[in-house]
Parts: sequence; C-alpha cells; structure tokens
Amino acid sequence: MKLNFILTLASLSVITGLVSATSVDLKLKRETSLLIDPAGLPTLPTVNAAKAAASAANINLDDIQGDILIGMLKNMELFFFFGIANATDFKAKLKSDILPLVTSTTQLLDNSTQPITALNIAFSQTGLLALNVTDSMSDVPFAGGQAVDPNLGDPGTTNWVPEFVGTNIHGVILLASDTLDNINSQLASLKSALGDSVTEIYSLQGAARPDNEKGHEHFGFLDGISNPAVVGFRTPLPGQAVVPTGEILVGETGDRITGRPSWAKDGSFLVFRQLKQLVPEFNKFLTDNPIQQPGLTPQNGSDLLGARMMGRWKSGAPVFLAPLADEPELGRDTSRNNDFNYADPTTGLVNTTDQTKCPFSAHIRKTRPRADLGLPENSTSNHHIIRAGIPYGPEVSTEEASSNTTATERGLAFVAYQSSIGNGFQFLQKLWADKTNFVHGNVGFDPIIGANKGASRVVNGLDPTDPTRSITLVTDFVVSRGGEYFFSPSLSAIANTLSV
Ligand code: HEM
Repeated sequence: MKLNFILTLASLSVITGLVSATSVDLKLKRETSLLIDPAGLPTLPTVNAAKAAASAANINLDDIQGDILIGMLKNMELFFFFGIANATDFKAKLKSDILPLVTSTTQLLDNSTQPITALNIAFSQTGLLALNVTDSMSDVPFAGGQAVDPNLGDPGTTNWVPEFVGTNIHGVILLASDTLDNINSQLASLKSALGDSVTEIYSLQGAARPDNEKGHEHFGFLDGISNPAVVGFRTPLPGQAVVPTGEILVGETGDRITGRPSWAKDGSFLVFRQLKQLVPEFNKFLTDNPIQQPGLTPQNGSDLLGARMMGRWKSGAPVFLAPLADEPELGRDTSRNNDFNYADPTTGLVNTTDQTKCPFSAHIRKTRPRADLGLPENSTSNHHIIRAGIPYGPEVSTEEASSNTTATERGLAFVAYQSSIGNGFQFLQKLWADKTNFVHGNVGFDPIIGANKGASRVVNGLDPTDPTRSITLVTDFVVSRGGEYFFSPSLSAIANTLSV
C-alpha cells in the first residue's frame, strides 16, 4: 500500500491541486506551509539560496533528511518509537513504503514541494544491529544508548518513561504536519503498510503552542532564535554562529571524527530527550523570589529573574542587550536579537567579573558561551548543535496555575542534531550546563537544564544587585523523562545500505 496518498478532510483545506493523478499515485500539493514562522526566528533560506550555498560547499540537500538543518519550526510533530520485529520484512518496507516518503531538506524549504505530512526516520545502535549493519559509528554515547549514559545529570532512570529504559527502541519515525488529522492519517497508513515487521513501543505528540505563544516553549520564552548557520545551507544573520557543515553532518568538512563508514556521510546523530517542564512551579519560584531593585515592581522583578535564568526575555530579547526590561521589538527583530557576544562592543573584551547584563550561568550563555570562550565559533574546540524540538502537552490549566502544581505533563520534546554526540549534546549538558566551574569561575548550574542527579542546584550571578549572592534551586523545573540516541541517515544510505 502506498502511504502518501491518504487524504483527510482536514488536509483538503491545504491542498490546492493535484500535480499528477493516476489511480494509484496522487501527488498532493500544499498552499500553506507545514512549518511555523513566528516573528523573531530566522526565516528559512529560499530553495535557490540554499541550493547556491549547498553547491558552493559541495553538499546535496536532496539527500539530507529535512529535519536536520531546518530547526525548531514544526507546527505539529509525532515521534513514533518502534522496534524491528522482522528485519527482512522491515528492510523491504523501508525501501518500498518508507523511503518514498522521507522528506528531504530541499522538499521542506518550499510550500509547493512540501508533502502533506513530512516524514523522517532515524535508527538507534540496536536498530542498526537489527538491520545487520555492524559498522562502528565511532560515537561512544550512540553505541551505548542513552539509558546507560551516566553523563547527563539524571538521577538514574527513576523519572524515565519506562519504554526508554533498555535497548528495545530500534528507531524513531518523525511525522510533521499542520494538523493532527494529517499526522494520524499518515500514521495509520504507515502502520498498515509496516504490519508485523515492527512493534510500536512508544509515541509522543508535540505541537507548537497556540496563538501568540507560537514558537515559545512552555515556560513562555521564544525558542529557536539562535540555531547556528551551517555552511552549505544558509547565510548568517548578525550574531548567528557560522559552523562548518561537518559539525552537524557526518563526513562533511569540519567533521572532527574519523573512521565512520562511508554510508554515514550526510547523516546526523539525533538526540531525543523528553524534558518535562514544571511550569506552575517555575512561575511560583519567580513570584516568590523577585529581583529587588529600585524602580521594579514585584512582577518586574520576577520577570527579570526568569529572563536572567534564561538569558533572554520571553519575547526573545537578549538580557545582555536589554538588561532591565523586556524589549519586545528587539525580540522580534532578527537583525538584532542575536547580535551580541557578551563582549564589550567597543573593546571587544569580555568583562569576566561583571554579570549585571547577563549571568554567566544563564541557559543561553552556558550552552553557547560566545566570546566567553575566547575561541572563534567555528573553532574545532567549540561545540554546536541544531535544535529541532517541539513543545508537548497541554497549556497550563487554571487549576494548575492557582495550585502552583503540575497536574498534566507538559514539556519539550528535545531534538538535537550533530555529527558527534560527545562533542554536541552530551558536551553541552555535561561540561557546560551541569558543570558549576565554568569559563569565569564558580558560576553554578545552568538554572534551566543544569542537572545534579536530583539534588539541589546552586546558581550564582542571578541577582544583578548582588553578584556574590547564591540562589539554591531545590526543584528541578526541567525533569528528564529519558530518551534515546539515534542516527538520521541520508536518503541514499537508506536506499543503498539500510534497506538491502
Ligand atoms: C526544557 C528544556 C529546555 C528549555 C525550556 C530551553 C529553552 C531555551 C530557550 C528559550 C532558548 C533561547 C532561544 C534561542 O536562543 O534559540 C534556548 C537556547 C538554547 N538552548 Fe535550550 N532549552 C531547553 C533544553 C536545552 C538542552 C537540553 C540543551 C542542550 C544540552 C539546550 C541548548 C540550547 C542552546 C545551544 C541554545 C542556543 C544558545 C545560543 O545560541 O545563544 N537547551 N533554550
């Protein structure tokens, strides 16, 4: 059964015409994008601009799965985690039924070439072995799997979704669209095509938040502003890190790891983490601990504390450029909202003791220290990922807000792409977010994602009126519910290696 021809009533509204129509092959065309485009996030390059950049860097965007370079712009996305029950059957279906649906980077860039529901697929180490692909991927975290990675600050797997514990998950299928109906139709036809060749292990449905919160994560902050500009894909906006293609795509210029099998070229390691966010509890903490400074109301003081924990205001405006109050216009302006590097613009030097404009421990400063490191962003000692996650779970209810207690789980379905998990996500989590001694001394944990195996976390520098003040966070506002490490192969690797 072909999968890409299932039409639902909801999807009809976005279909403008049929490019080709035979009794078995209907190619459906979109008018509206399946991606979101909130103000403040970098817009995607046009197909022509991306093709020109790709051709100059000698990479083939038609062969690279669409999610890798695009970033956090999905409207709705389902993560379908599966096990391979019958490898021979699965390989056959991977070639005949899944591969034709795998959405490339080029296809995602233009509404007219986007499918009704985009599909990407990635495999865990045990998944590759199930397919009898035994090459070493030269990536230690990937080889071991996330559940045995001791480097992430999780208190073991006690808080984990049980299905993530163990090695049963062989792969994940990502389905993205603008309606749940589209995703559900695609999933239903996919399941029917795959039959008994796979077992369904776990699913997580993500969705952009509604209305004015579109593009904002559940704590309320605009997310996805500062993904790096990958050489061969886009030209950088002011302040955007420019990173070598090989920092994200295996086997390309700048990939620091050698010895990968040739079929892995133009794939990328996909880190998945289900990160639960305790939003009412986070808000209560801010309300109880406002920054007290002349001229600030308690509400202003609470907002300032939240912004300093993140390094940006909810609008996306960086606290380094707007240290006292949110500037929504700055947040919306992609020519300015990423244009800072923590150094004094006139001297070019970072003040290593002054945290009044931005704490050294702020989430965005810990995960991308910019000039703090004293290294160019494209240096081989720097560390970058492409973030491509999406919020999951409902909006906070009135009852949850008034009781300051989470009743229904919500959070971030965190996805990161990189050519090395050890140099990418794992490095950021372990050696930057969780490490208290960081660039300019004892700065404490990243107050958003820093993890101390469930124990309380000391954070320094949050109070601009008293840089010596330490704040102890007894609650983890972000709780890891676990995940897995995957490899997202090129389309040609699926065709020529994984499905044969
Ligand atoms: C629920 C968990 C998380 C939340 C709520 C969150 C939220 C945010 C927000 C609001 C931003 C600012 C917007 C932007 O610059 O794009 C950001 C940036 C960033 N986050 Fe997170 N994040 C989470 C988890 C993580 C994790 C697990 C990592 C990696 C270990 C990470 C790495 C980054 C990076 C690299 C940036 C960009 C920093 C920059 O370039 O200035 N985040 N995050």
